[in-house]
Amino acid sequence: MIKKCLFPVAGYGTRFLPATKSMPKEMLPVVNKPLVQYGVEEALAAGLNEICFVTGRGKRSIHDHFDISYELEHQIAGTDKEDYLIEIRKVINSGRFASTRQLEMKGLGHAILTGELLVGNQPFGVILADDLCFNDDIGVMAQLVDIYRRTGSTVVAIQEVEEKDVSKFGIIAGVEEEPGLYRVTDMVEKPAPSEAPSNLAIIGRYVLSPFIFEVLRHTPPGKNGEVQLTDALLTLARTSKVLAYKFKGQRFDCGSVGGFVDATNHVYQNIYLKGRK
Ligand code: G1P
Repeated sequence: MIKKCLFPVAGYGTRFLPATKSMPKEMLPVVNKPLVQYGVEEALAAGLNEICFVTGRGKRSIHDHFDISYELEHQIAGTDKEDYLIEIRKVINSGRFASTRQLEMKGLGHAILTGELLVGNQPFGVILADDLCFNDDIGVMAQLVDIYRRTGSTVVAIQEVEEKDVSKFGIIAGVEEEPGLYRVTDMVEKPAPSEAPSNLAIIGRYVLSPFIFEVLRHTPPGKNGEVQLTDALLTLARTSKVLAYKFKGQRFDCGSVGGFVDATNHVYQNIYLKGRK
């Protein structure tokens, strides 16, 4: 059974400065809920209720968000404002939360390896909160967990992207074994369009075997001088099976201002307003 979900949340969020100067980018609200809460809810919906944060300096408000605020509870107890806390109370009651700090920003692979302390020797999910995903019924993490249960293989979520955008992602090449499910044969982190093996881009959802930690320990810095999870996954794909799944649903790139605005409009129209009817 997969129980843990790792959230690398140590990044600086430079694209959102000055908003992120003294506030973690993961706490930026998409309408009325911080970005990271959407990811945590997706993990919980997939049955992953041990939430592990790899944080950095200045990220305290993430911990506070997943804790009880006694003053606030006391202040609004018995008023109609209590309704606003229903969702977050549910999250706090259904999850367990732990964190460790990444001391230096040395890439996603390094962040995942830092999380070994919290994950230990068991398969685990990874959610990059910047990639905000929605699906009407089964969430993207639950889709991956389902594939892992069925196959026992490490699996990453992918989507087709335009050729001009391949350099923003890890790109895979693979053999389609079932509709939408590929066995990975190659993987490149942020290739130039001319060097991309396909237009199938990794998005920020993974279910990883704990063996990835051993591989990461021996993975040298790659693209941009950072330890890349994509490079470690390629090593894994060469010795065992790595799958890539064209997930069902919609993804918004909340690491970019445009994607964040699109996500905000989507949530406002399709979730927030509907919830108030
Ligand atoms: C990371 C990964 C990349 C993946 C992307 C998805 O890159 O390194 O392989 O395609 O997330 O969002 P980042 O966007 O953090 O630079």
